[in-house]
Amino acid sequence: MKLRESWGSHLGFLMATAGSAVGLGSLWKFPYVTGENGGGIFVLAYLLFTFIIGVPIFIAELIVGRKAERSPVDAFGELPPVQRNWSLLGWSCSLSAFLILSYYIVVAGWTVNYAFLSLLNFTKGKTSAEISGVFDVLYKSADINLFWTTLFLLFTLGIVYKGVRKGIEFWSKVLMPLLFAILIILFLYSMTLSGFGEAFSFIFKPDVSKFKPSGLLEALGLACFTLSVGMGVLVTYGSYMRKSEDIPKTAVTVASIDIFVSLLASLMIFPIIFTFNFAPTEGTGLLFKAMPALFAKLPGTIILSTIFFLLVVFAALTSAISVMEVLVATAMEKFGWSREKSAGIVGAATLILAIPSALSGSETLFHNWPLMFGKNFFETIDYFSFTWLLPINAALMALFAGWAIEKSSWKQEWVQGTRWHWIFNPWIFLIRWVVPVGVLLIMLQQGGIINIDKFFLKG
Ligand code: PHE
Repeated sequence: MKLRESWGSHLGFLMATAGSAVGLGSLWKFPYVTGENGGGIFVLAYLLFTFIIGVPIFIAELIVGRKAERSPVDAFGELPPVQRNWSLLGWSCSLSAFLILSYYIVVAGWTVNYAFLSLLNFTKGKTSAEISGVFDVLYKSADINLFWTTLFLLFTLGIVYKGVRKGIEFWSKVLMPLLFAILIILFLYSMTLSGFGEAFSFIFKPDVSKFKPSGLLEALGLACFTLSVGMGVLVTYGSYMRKSEDIPKTAVTVASIDIFVSLLASLMIFPIIFTFNFAPTEGTGLLFKAMPALFAKLPGTIILSTIFFLLVVFAALTSAISVMEVLVATAMEKFGWSREKSAGIVGAATLILAIPSALSGSETLFHNWPLMFGKNFFETIDYFSFTWLLPINAALMALFAGWAIEKSSWKQEWVQGTRWHWIFNPWIFLIRWVVPVGVLLIMLQQGGIINIDKFFLKG
């Protein structure tokens, strides 16, 4: 068998992993979901879930991948003591990756659209309301959506096609540092706006009255999503990792970077919202309505706006490649295809599934879908994968890592490469008890079987 591909350097691995984590989840989803849930407590729940649920699974995934040197299906199915049924978890990871990739590239396509629009100075002479209106037009345009979705898919495909070092690692190392630099510059600018104080307290001041307990499930889903756990991305990336990498440290570093970016992005976006009297609950359009309005007020609009949206494109790209890599690696392993063939077939299949999502706003396909299911196709895939599949996968991974796997060889693998041996015990406690119980509780709540409202809304 051909030697498995591997990362070229520690930095490359770290950037690729952080690149997977930092994406539309942090720059787009976190701000608007926070807005919809009233900020405050939701943010706290998100932080808590990141560290007690996200990070332990992140560690588990990387270790499973490094130990098995396989992508998810075989990794879960073949680690000792071998119980083939666990490979179902690997398939469920692949299914989630497939579903999520199909709608992720639609949103990513919007970001490419805005990078292009920015270059054309599209906000010139428009009021804030008119600028927001551009997004509504985009959302309803079938052909334009399809165009950008396909283009973004081709970018993603181009990188994954090139392989682990020349594709994924190379591009992550180029794009991530740029992203951080621009984010910080924009954040510093936002600090000077009059809405900054209001935004700050919106995000950080817990206000119980605004909190819906159902938001907990969303916070959990988001914590998993922004860390890229629950889909086997880290199993796959872990399988290219050297034994000398410090896994717990990487997990904590990536989680911190991810949180930092999410908070920074919100602290950059909400001041604008409040300064220009947008509602913080603008939903999916937040990034595409509020940000262009800000740039229109700045000198150098074209450059700033173009660079900003390009960077969102880059963030989306480094995440999308990680999701696609799960599918490509799995296809290579399970069907014995070459990387090129796998990438081609995965790309084509993803495009087919993406079409109804890309056409959701225009209602040209599945016109009656919203009437039947209450959400359009795009929202249905989003809801199903994000709110249910990811947490279920996450809980199963915890059961796998905490209970199913052979203890002695597991611990050996766990401590390899790290100096943080002391973390093993807290980790095993979290992964055995807190993760499964937490996820279960939240699902019971969502299913209407228990009601945590009562605890919160006493007064
Ligand atoms: N973490 C990415 C983001 O925040 C999304 C993602 C989810 C990527 C799952 C890979 C796997 O946008």
